[in-house]
Amino acid sequence: MECCMLRSFPSFFATISLETVLFAILAVILLEIAISHVFKPKLRLPPGPLALPIFGNWLQVGDDLNHENLSQLAKKFGEIFLLRMGQRNLVIVSSPELAKGVLHTQGVEFGSRTRNVVFDIFTGKGQDMVFTVYGDHWRKMRRIMTVPFFTNKVVQQNRVYWEQEIDLARQDLKSRPAAATTGVVICQRSQMLMYNNMYRMMFNRRFERDDDPLFKVKEERLNLFNKYFMEEHKKLIKQKPPCNEEKCALDHMLDAQKNGEITEENILYIVENINVAAIETTLWTIEWGLAELVNNLDIQKKVREEMNTVLGKGVPITEPDVSRLPYLHAVLKETMRLHMPIPLLVPHMNLLQSKLAGYDIPAESSLLKSIQSFLQPAHFIF
Ligand code: HEM
Repeated sequence: MECCMLRSFPSFFATISLETVLFAILAVILLEIAISHVFKPKLRLPPGPLALPIFGNWLQVGDDLNHENLSQLAKKFGEIFLLRMGQRNLVIVSSPELAKGVLHTQGVEFGSRTRNVVFDIFTGKGQDMVFTVYGDHWRKMRRIMTVPFFTNKVVQQNRVYWEQEIDLARQDLKSRPAAATTGVVICQRSQMLMYNNMYRMMFNRRFERDDDPLFKVKEERLNLFNKYFMEEHKKLIKQKPPCNEEKCALDHMLDAQKNGEITEENILYIVENINVAAIETTLWTIEWGLAELVNNLDIQKKVREEMNTVLGKGVPITEPDVSRLPYLHAVLKETMRLHMPIPLLVPHMNLLQSKLAGYDIPAESSLLKSIQSFLQPAHFIF
């Protein structure tokens, strides 16, 4: 009997015509629309292009969601609009007020991050600080990270090292004769400058030369942090425990591990977060700033004049001097406005249904901040 039933399946499918299949698909689509209209609560969603059932706006916008395409859509639909990418809702905000809402005023509601397979690989499934959903882990990670990274005390404690690193980079460049004639590519050297700034903060370590084998294998970072920085550091502090003033970020994280608040994996992924968040962003900003000064000689001249007047000719700049150099400060801010390293910032997510600008934002929507459209004009404004 069972055998007879199995044999009858293929013949049953063979008799279904293409029209019947198409009709069935259409019926499912219409049914989905009907169900969504009758049973789903009426939400006041942000405006956006008409979404097709199942596909949403995928066929219209594709997966090329770069900030220029999104700015064009913002011109049509306004400073908040909704794209449906298949089943996922993507809310794009493009005004300073709404970006502030997502990042700050309603920061807790929109404080989670979307996750996907790629993020899971790079964060050990959310063991890091950045790509986590709002909750105990989210709060704990931010609390632990504030002391070693995000206070003014950290700036004061580390400024001497930053000043030293800048001076060493300057001396290195000066020692290359081409620097005064044909010019040199400073990319690799400025990368080492940034790595040294951050690795001093994190591990109390620096690279002597840019052909240091450890510097070269920075791509294999996670293994490297563990083997060469974490284990070595643990040995060092066992011999001589640091006092509070001597503690680097890793010491603070190891304290949190000792208290049972985080695991060794958490530490490795936090270090990875900081590498990505701190080094490349700052490095690109430095390179853009230098490129703008090379291409705008009148601005370069004014920066030099200000430094010579305020600090004295040839006197190296220190961190507290920055507040006495308003023109230099403005050039830095203009560079960051014009060359934002992450133009859509990092997507946020709301765990629960929320309100933004009077619209309903369905739970687990991705929120992108398209800031490029309000960072106009696209040139230095002095
Ligand atoms: C010019 C330099 C920098 C730029 C342009 C920059 C930009 C950004 C942006 C756009 C975000 C995402 C904001 C969001 O949408 O949630 C972010 C997050 C972050 N940045 Fe930076 N950043 C810079 C330097 C740094 C430095 C030096 C550090 C560390 C010392 C750092 C650590 C972080 C961390 C940990 C996050 C994640 C915050 C969170 O998830 O709560 N950044 N940064």
